[in-house]
Amino acid sequence: MQDMRSTDVLNPYKEQQISYYDKSTRKVLISDREVPFPEGKLIVSRTDLEGIITHANQSFVEMSAYSEQEIIHAPHYILRHPDMPRAAFKDLWDTIRCKKKWHGYVKNLRKDGAYYWVYATVIPNIRAGKIVGYTSVRRKPSRLKVRECTQLYAQMLKEEQNQ
Ligand SMILES: Cc1cc2nc3c(=O)[nH]c(=O)nc-3n(C[C@H](O)[C@H](O)[C@H](O)COP(=O)(O)O)c2cc1C
Repeated sequence: MQDMRSTDVLNPYKEQQISYYDKSTRKVLISDREVPFPEGKLIVSRTDLEGIITHANQSFVEMSAYSEQEIIHAPHYILRHPDMPRAAFKDLWDTIRCKKKWHGYVKNLRKDGAYYWVYATVIPNIRAGKIVGYTSVRRKPSRLKVRECTQLYAQMLKEEQNQ
């Protein structure tokens, strides 16, 4: 995955190197600007078994700030924000691989370095008893939950960094 480019990102921003589960790494540029979840919209994406994006609705594309071409066939971690603890995604994958539904609050990173919070429901798509992919539908999260998760995730991240 390509590094984020300073020309795409509004000032001021800070730089961070992220390493992903598949061992690839990427430089991300993060600004402290939140983009509010669009009123009355659902943000939807589908992935294959490895979390590669196979479909994204219009709201998904708009909120990510990437073009549809950049998003389709990209790994879903293209949106991973460095403030998200690994444990949240481990819980997501452990749950959906067991054919169960996962709910959770996620802070996502946009192409322009800004972030947005979602309340996500991720479900496995099952055909003839086998998982063929996954779908995530995201709604506007309550501000109370966003505040709680901001604190909780910061604590979890600190513990992960001390391990
Ligand atoms: C259907 C589906 C939707 C996902 N949506 C997101 C998302 O919006 N943001 C995100 O950071 N990770 C999302 N993930 C999790 C990523 O695949 C990935 O596990 C995560 O970004 C952490 O990266 P890492 O596992 O490579 O460390 C989603 C996974 C699935 C299967």
